[in-house]
Amino acid sequence: MLLPFLAAYLLLVPSASATVGSTDVIRAALQTTVDCASCLALWTELKPVAESGDDALIIQLTNLCIELGAADPDVCAGVVAGAGPVLGQDFRQINVTGPTGEKLCSALMGVCFSNAVDPFTVQFPKPAPANPTVFKSRGRAPFRVVHISDVHIDRGYTPGSSANCTKPLCCRDFADSPSIVTDPAGPNGNANCDTPVSLADSMLEAIERLNPSFSIFTGDVAERLVWLVNQSDVSADLEDFNSEMAAKLSAPIFPSLGNHDTAPVNLFARTTSHTANNSQFVFDIQSAGWERWIKESAAFQVEHDSGSYSAQVSGTNLRILAVNTQYWYNQNFWLYDSDVFQPDPNGILAFMVDQLQAAEDAGARVWIIGHIPIGSSSMLFDQSNYYDQVLQRYKNTIAGQFFGHSHMDQFEIAYSNYSDQTAQTAVSAALIAPALTPNSGNPAFKVYSIDPDTYEVMDASVFFTNASTPQFQINPQWGLFYSARETYGPLVGLSPSEPLTPAFWHNLTEVFATNETAFQMYNTFLTRGGAVVPCDAACQNTTICDLRAFRAQNNCDVPTPGFSLRRRGGGVLHETEACEGIGIAHIMSNMVAALA
Ligand SMILES: *[C@@H]1O[C@H](CO)[C@@H](O)[C@H](O)[C@H]1NC(C)=O
Ligand SMILES: *[C@@H]1O[C@H](CO)[C@@H](O)[C@H](O)[C@H]1NC(C)=O
Ligand SMILES: *[C@@H]1O[C@H](CO)[C@@H](O)[C@H](O)[C@H]1NC(C)=O
Ligand SMILES: *[C@@H]1O[C@H](CO)[C@@H](O)[C@H](O)[C@H]1NC(C)=O
Ligand SMILES: *[C@@H]1O[C@H](CO)[C@@H](O)[C@H](O)[C@H]1NC(C)=O
Ligand SMILES: *[C@@H]1O[C@H](CO)[C@@H](O)[C@H](O)[C@H]1NC(C)=O
Ligand SMILES: *[C@@H]1O[C@H](CO)[C@@H](O)[C@H](O)[C@H]1NC(C)=O
Ligand SMILES: *[C@@H]1O[C@H](CO)[C@@H](O)[C@H](O)[C@H]1NC(C)=O
Ligand SMILES: *[C@@H]1O[C@H](CO)[C@@H](O)[C@H](O)[C@H]1NC(C)=O
Repeated sequence: MLLPFLAAYLLLVPSASATVGSTDVIRAALQTTVDCASCLALWTELKPVAESGDDALIIQLTNLCIELGAADPDVCAGVVAGAGPVLGQDFRQINVTGPTGEKLCSALMGVCFSNAVDPFTVQFPKPAPANPTVFKSRGRAPFRVVHISDVHIDRGYTPGSSANCTKPLCCRDFADSPSIVTDPAGPNGNANCDTPVSLADSMLEAIERLNPSFSIFTGDVAERLVWLVNQSDVSADLEDFNSEMAAKLSAPIFPSLGNHDTAPVNLFARTTSHTANNSQFVFDIQSAGWERWIKESAAFQVEHDSGSYSAQVSGTNLRILAVNTQYWYNQNFWLYDSDVFQPDPNGILAFMVDQLQAAEDAGARVWIIGHIPIGSSSMLFDQSNYYDQVLQRYKNTIAGQFFGHSHMDQFEIAYSNYSDQTAQTAVSAALIAPALTPNSGNPAFKVYSIDPDTYEVMDASVFFTNASTPQFQINPQWGLFYSARETYGPLVGLSPSEPLTPAFWHNLTEVFATNETAFQMYNTFLTRGGAVVPCDAACQNTTICDLRAFRAQNNCDVPTPGFSLRRRGGGVLHETEACEGIGIAHIMSNMVAALA
């Protein structure tokens, strides 16, 4: 017997065949989607469907997804319903065979890939000072800062439910869950699932015991069961975690927004998008929820500057500049709804420039925090390049950059000349925090030792809990995994008083290129020793290239046609799988694969 919800989808089939185009035509176009030209041909088929209405587009894509077994029916329906109206808007409003159509092919189908950047020169109010402020360490004792990311708390996590399911994430009682559970979810988490509340509480308690001066959080509160998450779910997720952080942490935490912190996932509309569908509800919730830590004027900015803000850290000369990176993200399909060149969606780069100029004028230092690393292969190359221009201009003011999203313990180096990558030309190092969710290795967070005069990083340690131990299900134990200074320092000959400079991180990549043992250790560290993905010589080469690519155009991840999500070393899905979770791009890939 058909499950009731599946029957509901199949009922839609007759109306689908009655609309413009048909699933057969789209199926045929999908089957031949192997390169750029055939992807543009697919868009040409989808455009009239979109013009006949979002419902037609959603029904046809959903039915094809179900017929081809690209995902479970509920996953097909939820994912397509989320992204469908925005893709429909894209198809209706752009020249689908022009440059915007090509960018959409790159993001959704992994074809039409290009390293080219649309030239744009960011304007600055003042030239870089001839004699920039020198921030000098007086050798005082460092203070401690905790960095958390990608908590992905699933408030529907159900201990005892099946951890072995056919969906992208498990550990919930789904309508079609089998009645006999062979692999029950434990109380504190499972590798096939997002984070139960008990694990998030346990991490916050571990952080509190470390007594940091403050913490930073680089986003992604909500669970990645994106086919289910609606605006009321994500609103509750954001509010609940704000309350939990406030209850458990006595020091302030400076948060930023992730791509999962809205619904439908990833879709932050541009102010130019002529739509009531935007993420203002997110900005409103976080403005109110974060005010206790970031204070009134920054909370006002969150509400009026699309989730970005700049906040002074009390008792320091340090400002936290939080940026909403989702306006530069290739899976935000609102960014393809116009052929008009929009170099700075929602003015986030202009906001950064204003805040950085104010900090420079005040002789203050700045840390930038955000969700998606600027050099990630899923960043739009244009905006990544423009951001890098801002970084180059204010490199003396910016003492640190911190991101998440990849779920891995990584870093990315920016150079004054990307054709000449040396310790001398390294100008900034972005530190990327691992995830809490047990779905991407062992749950972890980072702890920094910070020089109180320069706000530079003296050490970066990873703390973790081992999800494979029996103790984890009883009461997770958190402890030091490794310290970058202790582990990597001797490999590059770091001197005792020196911070972890961009030159240090560059020299470490030189070690990774020549010392196989050291590189494999790094590869193990990525996932905190759990779910380690083997990395061969080609993967090693790509990995090192990516560490040196704060600009996405310099990234070496190669797209595989038909697989929208680019893969490290062209092999196993690595970076992208964890952070994007299931999405419309995955569904499209699965459909192409099913037809191949
Ligand atoms: C905007 O929101 C309305 C109401 O929720 C919905 O019917 C419509 O499909 C949405 N449009 C887009 C482009 O997301
Ligand atoms: C759409 O873009 C293609 C490729 O650049 C171009 O040949 C065509 O003339 C454009 N169509 C319109 C209506 O602008
Ligand atoms: C998971 O489910 C599959 C398919 O039902 C089954 O073959 C496998 O043994 C299960 N694994 C565990 C660990 O229960
Ligand atoms: C959102 O989804 C939840 C279940 O996850 C459901 O209870 C609720 O009614 C939905 N809200 C809206 C506005 O659709
Ligand atoms: C960047 O480095 C390349 C390679 O060393 C060199 O040819 C080029 O002149 C450099 N560019 C600048 C602006 O220094
Ligand atoms: C990096 O390596 C260069 C060249 O070997 C060396 O001159 C420099 O001191 C090193 N810097 C750091 C911070 O390790
Ligand atoms: C290579 O790295 C390992 C640590 O991963 C270290 O023990 C060893 O001394 C390094 N070898 C050289 C030649 O530096
Ligand atoms: C985690 O625990 C398992 C089981 O005791 C052990 O095999 C593994 O080495 C541990 N991992 C780490 C990173 O400590
Ligand atoms: C990666 O491979 C290319 C081409 O073989 C080579 O030029 C480059 O030096 C390699 N990079 C690293 C970091 O090994």
